[in-house]
Amino acid sequence: MSYAFRTSHLKPEGAYQVLARVQELEASGREIIHLEIGQPDFETFDNIRLAGMRAIAEGQTRYTPPIGMKSLREAIAEDAGERHGLQFHPDQVVVSPGAKPNLFFPVLALIEPGDEVIYPNPGFPTYEAMIRVAGGQPIPVPLKEENNFSFDLEAFHHLINKRTKLVIINSPSNPTGGVMPLSDLEEIARTSQEFNFWVMSDEIYTRLAYDQINVPSIASLPGMMDRTIIVDGFSKTYAMTGWRLGYGIMPESLAQVVQLLLTHSIGCTAQFVQVAGVEALTGPQDQVDGMVSEYQKRRDIIVNDLNAVPGISCQRPQGAFYVFPNIKSFGISSSELASLLLEKANVAVLAGSDFGKYGEGYLRLTYSNSIENIQKAIGQIREAVRGLC
Ligand SMILES: Cc1ncc(COP(=O)(O)O)c(C=O)c1O
Repeated sequence: MSYAFRTSHLKPEGAYQVLARVQELEASGREIIHLEIGQPDFETFDNIRLAGMRAIAEGQTRYTPPIGMKSLREAIAEDAGERHGLQFHPDQVVVSPGAKPNLFFPVLALIEPGDEVIYPNPGFPTYEAMIRVAGGQPIPVPLKEENNFSFDLEAFHHLINKRTKLVIINSPSNPTGGVMPLSDLEEIARTSQEFNFWVMSDEIYTRLAYDQINVPSIASLPGMMDRTIIVDGFSKTYAMTGWRLGYGIMPESLAQVVQLLLTHSIGCTAQFVQVAGVEALTGPQDQVDGMVSEYQKRRDIIVNDLNAVPGISCQRPQGAFYVFPNIKSFGISSSELASLLLEKANVAVLAGSDFGKYGEGYLRLTYSNSIENIQKAIGQIREAVRGLC
């Protein structure tokens, strides 16, 4: 049986494959520390859970407009507008079940076969998948450790041409935690006006930023809102991965096309989930702040502990909940090392190469786990790699 060409490049995410192996080991009685899955270990905050439960009890369990409930789109426009120093109209906001459909559908709406799309590598695996399904040409731009994992601007300039239709950026980044400096965003913005391409700015980790930095958004730069799609959501900021709630902010005409794609695929996002989303945005924010300071503590511990392991060197990223240590001195591939750590150290991590070819030589570890588990895991890693380099 053969299937349509558009699906032929799709492959599973590394994280799910590792999880399957971890579950096998756990079923056989092994105790594994999970530093692989990118989801908060915090529970969804109580006020949000209660709002969702109340909405179900009240019968808010029906279809909503495909683009999302007005009350939620208003709350998103206000919250995002305040954070970006911009004014958004609710009609620019498209609500979706998780952020992922707001990555996928704008790409389907914009990309013609043969159009080139530049995306970060190492980067979130969905980017390449969605570009290929849309028939576009994926063009990876390396993120380099020596640039704190921001775009390699020299490589970027070489890759840009008149076929470039879209550039995807993700700051803070999955998998590196790196934050793009304003000067890099200004350069991409300038180039987008010169070459007339769109920018998709995946800002799902923007609120998870440390050292009191404010992560800049390319949408805030002059003239950029007309050609930028901001993608954001509730999964990481409000510990709501399983609720499936995200959004895109884009020019109204594109929002209308994306709404049509939603209408004929997903239909709409669950009504009670959207009600919970209004509470997340308009309720108290101190729990987000508390979570962020806990992540920062863990980041400092994991970075210090990793740097104390002979053969590993690890930058201190300023966002998300990932570290991306350099493991090149061991002389084996990142997937071999990730397997070795699972088998010998009982620690699940991801190979950098799961995020693209420029991720080779690195591992991705998430610190969305307790300080106790993080310290224990790095201790076990230290033992497992003893004598390897
Ligand atoms: C960079 C990035 N963008 C988007 C998403 C998707 O988020 P959601 O769970 O809201 O679909 C993720 C999830 O891991 C991510 O890491």
